Amino acid sequence: MTRLAVSAPGKAFLIGEYAVLAGATALVTAVGRRAVAADCDDPDRPPASPLTEAAYAHVRQFLSESTGTKAPGPLTSVDTGSFAAGARKLGLGSSAAAVAAVVGFHLAEAGHDPEDPAVRAIALRLAQAAHAQVQGGGSGADVACAVFGGTIAFARGEAPVAVAHPAWLHVGFFDAGAPADTASFVQQVRVAGERDPQAYAAATAQLRRAAELFRSGYESPDPDIGLTAIRDAVALHNDGLRALQRMSDAPIVTPAIAAIVDQAARMGLAAKPSGAGGGDLVVVFAARQADLDLLAERLQREHGLCAIGRLPVAAPGLRRDERPPLSSRMSGFFRLGVDGRRDAVASATRIPRDRFAALDPGSLDLGSADNLIENVIGTLELPLAVATNFRINGRDFLVPMAVEEASVVAAASNAAKMIRAGGGFYARSDPPWMIAQVQLTAPKAGDAADLAVAAIHAARADLLALADSAHPRLVARGGGARDLLVRVLAPDMLVVDVVVDCQDAMGANLLNTIAEVLAPRLSDMTGWTAGLRILSNLADRRRAHVTCRVPPGALAGRGFSGAAAAAGIASASRFAELDPYRAATHNKGVMNGVDAVALATGQDWRAIEAGAHAYAGLTGAYRPLATWRVDADGWLCGAISLPAAVGVVGGATKVHPAARLALEILGATSGAELGQVMAAVGLASNLAALRALATEGIQRGHMSLHARSVALGAGAQGAEVDLLVHRLVESAEIKHDRAVLLLRELRSESR
Ligand code: MEV
Repeated sequence: MTRLAVSAPGKAFLIGEYAVLAGATALVTAVGRRAVAADCDDPDRPPASPLTEAAYAHVRQFLSESTGTKAPGPLTSVDTGSFAAGARKLGLGSSAAAVAAVVGFHLAEAGHDPEDPAVRAIALRLAQAAHAQVQGGGSGADVACAVFGGTIAFARGEAPVAVAHPAWLHVGFFDAGAPADTASFVQQVRVAGERDPQAYAAATAQLRRAAELFRSGYESPDPDIGLTAIRDAVALHNDGLRALQRMSDAPIVTPAIAAIVDQAARMGLAAKPSGAGGGDLVVVFAARQADLDLLAERLQREHGLCAIGRLPVAAPGLRRDERPPLSSRMSGFFRLGVDGRRDAVASATRIPRDRFAALDPGSLDLGSADNLIENVIGTLELPLAVATNFRINGRDFLVPMAVEEASVVAAASNAAKMIRAGGGFYARSDPPWMIAQVQLTAPKAGDAADLAVAAIHAARADLLALADSAHPRLVARGGGARDLLVRVLAPDMLVVDVVVDCQDAMGANLLNTIAEVLAPRLSDMTGWTAGLRILSNLADRRRAHVTCRVPPGALAGRGFSGAAAAAGIASASRFAELDPYRAATHNKGVMNGVDAVALATGQDWRAIEAGAHAYAGLTGAYRPLATWRVDADGWLCGAISLPAAVGVVGGATKVHPAARLALEILGATSGAELGQVMAAVGLASNLAALRALATEGIQRGHMSLHARSVALGAGAQGAEVDLLVHRLVESAEIKHDRAVLLLRELRSESR
């Protein structure tokens, strides 16, 4: 179990990344991806690196020289898994965050508070020395940000100054693809600057002016003045970058970056590369989160470019973590028995052990059940289990699953272990947008639909405001109506789709209310008759997207090489892509995992099922939700996009005590994160099924799993379990009585 964990944030440049090299002041913000140093016993913790060793050496030296402090324990390990975007790391300063976290950990271990400004000053000195020793160069802004957090104004050779992040400013990040080598970029610009010092001076002067103007906007209390200055500053900055690009030939503003910058400008927002450019991060500034979501949707649709989730800015600096990371790698978990498993989950999650009584049979009492639905005569129990090995975006999850089918949980855990060998799952989400629908029908034959459509379009802004007025609390939480579309379904039938940001609720109730509020107004303005007023369960604007890469070695076994298994799985995927009859079964395997998590966490699993299958058929052909390919390195790459109309507030999550505890065990902090977990479990379930089907077939694995629980039920212990499983499978009669008999035989043989 983890006793101490200290974390440090990554960073992103808001402005001034080139100008700082010429002596100007940059603004750098700490982002909500953290490096975590912890003394946990997870076998998968990353090994020491030259960087962590240097950090450790510096802190040990410092502690040995200060009086009255304890010597540090052995070098801690540090996890920067949350900085990854699939196979590559995002340029968010993971190495600076790692150094800061290691230094902070060993200072905390010796009794220093990593949040104390005096301790942070020491941590900065030690971390900067270690970072410079191993990484060389660099401005040092990233280490300062990792230690202090927030937003800092940073100039070389000067102490960083904290700058308050304005509450009115929303910052989004987009992934512009694999980055070029920053060091060679900066070098290319430097060489060009020596060749043409005048042009270089003009460009850097412009970049410096941009940084100053940006800072004045950032520090303005007035959103209009502030955003105007930021927009102008960003335009100036991008011009300066293009000048550097012209003189150096370094491809700083790539086509992907240009697409984001142009689209943002068309929407009145400001976007620029964050860092040296050439790909990687683009930062966007807006007055409303809704504008960033609209931009994300448009960039995804038109250019296939993705937003990097909702990445908090001005994140806290070096700190001791109250809830240290848990490890979902619990080897031998299945052998523990129910009580032992509850102990293990309680200790990993730090949920008090007595709260697990909420999972006892009958925890949903008859009175509550009677209040939930009508005509109640009892409750229906299902087994609730925990899947292990899940690691998503660098964070481990113990995943509650409720399902009656044997082997679903074991298969998902097993596949998650294979995926973990490749770094785990990488997940991101669309904004939590759902659709409320109002059906309109022509009062009499021949009424022109185009007049009705035009009337609705003309009133778009009023209609969106009316939708918002139905849910002021949702609007106060940052949600609300985002878009309105009219579709002509037939000459006498229209549908109005209102796109609503539901925040962390599943949203059914609020969407239905919005549809009902809009219907009479739509009817009045068009003369058409309002029919149905209800949400759409085809939540294709609210998907969770999950990918993974599995090394072939992790797939090998049962007489099959990893390469053969990977090829078989890719071929099974193609089969499902070509044949709807296979795709249905393929998707059943995906939903084995998705539904089990939905059920355990109190979600509306019928809505999720309806959404998943409607989405699978959206192109007109029924398609697999998850697909697999073998990449050029021979690794197996999986991807799933799943409509995820799920929430962590409201619904059964409120009333069912077991669902509430299950959500707590999972520890998902938002509806988006819950959706990502579900999609990851769906992808893992699919991998397990395809691997079995493409190799030895599904029955053998099922039989031995079933035989294992029968063997344990018959009282087999230790080494007896595997022997008895083998004999039961051989006997082809996997029954309790047979197991008791075979166990007796086994024991008499060994006497
Ligand atoms: C069984 O519950 C699920 C499978 O049929 C899925 C599949 O065929 O991919 C094994």
